[in-house]
Amino acid sequence: MLPTPIRSIHARRVWDSRGRPTVEAEVTVQGAAGSVPGRGIVPAGASTGSREALELRDGGARFGGLDVQRAIGHVNGEIAAAVHGFDASDQAGLDGLLMALDGTPGKTRLGANATLAVSMAAAHAAAAARGVPLHHHLGGGEAGTAGEGGDLLLPLPLPQIQIFGGGAHAGRRVDIQDFMVVCPGATCFAQAIEWTAEVYRAAGELMRERGSLAGVADEGGWWPAFDTNEAALQALVQAIERAGFVPGAQVAIALDIAASEFGRGGRYTLGLERRQLDSDALIELLLGWLDRYPIVSIEDPLAEDDAQGFARFTRAAGHRVQIVGDDFLVSDAALVREAAALGAANAVLLKPNQRGTLTEVRQAWGAARDAGYAGIVSARSGETEDVTIVHLAVGWRVGQLKVGSFARSERMAKWNEALRLEEAAGARSRFAGASALGRSPAALR
Ligand code: PGA
Ligand code: ZN
Repeated sequence: MLPTPIRSIHARRVWDSRGRPTVEAEVTVQGAAGSVPGRGIVPAGASTGSREALELRDGGARFGGLDVQRAIGHVNGEIAAAVHGFDASDQAGLDGLLMALDGTPGKTRLGANATLAVSMAAAHAAAAARGVPLHHHLGGGEAGTAGEGGDLLLPLPLPQIQIFGGGAHAGRRVDIQDFMVVCPGATCFAQAIEWTAEVYRAAGELMRERGSLAGVADEGGWWPAFDTNEAALQALVQAIERAGFVPGAQVAIALDIAASEFGRGGRYTLGLERRQLDSDALIELLLGWLDRYPIVSIEDPLAEDDAQGFARFTRAAGHRVQIVGDDFLVSDAALVREAAALGAANAVLLKPNQRGTLTEVRQAWGAARDAGYAGIVSARSGETEDVTIVHLAVGWRVGQLKVGSFARSERMAKWNEALRLEEAAGARSRFAGASALGRSPAALR
């Protein structure tokens, strides 16, 4: 592979989907035919895990303390000087350099927003200089992935798409954060998107007829104007049926409970229903939902500090539903290995800004695969037009992709990018479908 040495780096402040400042880096590399730029923009979470790498914010009064001038200064100063001349095609080497330069496990010195912007921008620049799509560049060295010839199969992910938002993304109007659909019955990515478009429309109509249409939550899902958490599940099943699909077999449900947002120390408070639950009572509640609704995936069912609860829930339901660790695993390889040893969860959510380099997140996926876990590449609730994560899902063969709802261009940009990749691959494309769930969920049988 021809080296693509870094010639220059520039970071700037751009704005995310919540109107908050974030970091964009532009890396220019030397290619065979001249210099080639690549860009990466860092997203931001709202329901973040406490073990995530540090998102460096300036504090103070400006923009609610959320400005990112310090992170930008680190890219334009220390990082730019350190990586000048480094081969951007050597992603692991470059990320290793960024990690060593920061010198802390949580990127607490330079900020994960500084390091990730550079990690992503360098990947884009190297791919462009090589004249290959980003997913192809990122997939290099991956077993079974397209090699230089590019004639192997292209795996398109099964999408998890939000229909109702909730939790920290909707003023805690309901406790549960994401009410999503997956389309295990679809035969290709484009069809899964078409089916979801019908369900999203039907859900909006349903809310309008009930007089409870009240706009959308942070990720574009319908505002959750419900009296109980379970009422949202009932409405979701109705929307699937109204759109003309068979709940479960064709279109199933995925939930992100995001339990760290309402639970700590084994105590959970469902604010909407004014109920206090311990871990076992929450597990019972969720098992009841698994019995009554066609749920195939459930994320963060217990809080990040409740590994024992996670393990108990996995023993009770792990054979019939995908159990995803997000705040619980924070895309960290060591935490994935610990969870696997405990039998807690059976899938990992992969969010690049939880660690701060692409390589560390890829290592978490490697650890997950070794443990027999499934994986889902995920966006954050604060997003931008950046579509890098779509290429991660395809290039790393992760099998599933979660980017929020079916509205708002920071979400649609990702779905649309995956549509382009599927079309470009033509007969070489392979839709992951239900097999990506890594289990044979009872709701599909
Ligand atoms: P976040 O939400 O980006 O606010 O953390 C996404 C998720 O919890 O999966
Ligand atoms: Zn989550």
